[in-house]
Amino acid sequence: MPSFTASAPGKIILFGEHAVVYGQPAIAAPVAQVRATATVTPELRGNAGAVRILAPGIGLDRRLDELDSTHALVAAIEGVTASLGISRLPACTLKVTSTIPVASGLGSGAAVSVAVIRALAGFLGHPLPDEQVSALAFEVEKIHHGTPSGIDNTVVAYAKPVYFIKQQLIETFSISKPFTIVIGDTGIATPTKETVGDVHAGWQADPQRYETLFAAVGSITRSARQAIEQGRPDRLGPLMNESHALLVEMGVSSPELDKLVRAANEAGASGAKLSGGGRGGNMIALAAPEQAEQIAATLQAAGAVRMLVTEVKG
Ligand code: PMV
Repeated sequence: MPSFTASAPGKIILFGEHAVVYGQPAIAAPVAQVRATATVTPELRGNAGAVRILAPGIGLDRRLDELDSTHALVAAIEGVTASLGISRLPACTLKVTSTIPVASGLGSGAAVSVAVIRALAGFLGHPLPDEQVSALAFEVEKIHHGTPSGIDNTVVAYAKPVYFIKQQLIETFSISKPFTIVIGDTGIATPTKETVGDVHAGWQADPQRYETLFAAVGSITRSARQAIEQGRPDRLGPLMNESHALLVEMGVSSPELDKLVRAANEAGASGAKLSGGGRGGNMIALAAPEQAEQIAATLQAAGAVRMLVTEVKG
């Protein structure tokens, strides 16, 4: 059994975060510059069932049976073995590395799960289709997020831009004209579970107000899809600014995110918004390709700890 490596990209949510948990559509795209990678290597002299898990980035070096069953890596491994009907893994080492910042809205948890699921299934000689990889990663997302919509595992497993509605079949859609997005990281790690929980509490306290906000986000997302399909990404800027204002209303922005959004707009971006769970993590700005570096430099001056420039294409 040779060793097997798989990797999965990070992601950004362009439109629709939070509202997607309540049935509204969202648009997300992969970010290929950052990736999670998993390699499974056979341990020829080891006993069956002896599985070593190495994740140097988080200082993890343990045997599988030493980890709690609620650990995300254990859940990903058990998802694969259960769906392949394997009761005992051959002796092996699983090594996980990732260049995706954690808890920052770039989909690191989903990417690690997808890479591990693909690497293990491939190692076992049963590569799984994207749909099944995504479904298994969704089960792991529940550990990270509590009540995930499923958007992260979907965009990361398919590695394509998606128009996503919870519990519906995945829709990929055409991007008639690629566009450039600058990503700025506040450096503040905020678990998605926390902001999703706060939005839930807000919705319970004032359902009408939140339903109105979610519907407004949904309508922006539908307009954004039209603009993207019609080759008019220039129309996305104002839609991003409107989205950010609605996310502020939902209570998931922060002074740091607001500052980066303002700085991007002042530096000439056509629009900007927080991306993902919010409170900390990343924001995104729509930029003309020739302006992207300047906007990234402005974000750094305004406090961003990391910037990425990515092209969204079909
Ligand atoms: O993983 P994040 O931080 O990009 O957030 C995912 C998007 C949310 O809509 C906030 C949650 C979800 O499950 O869709």
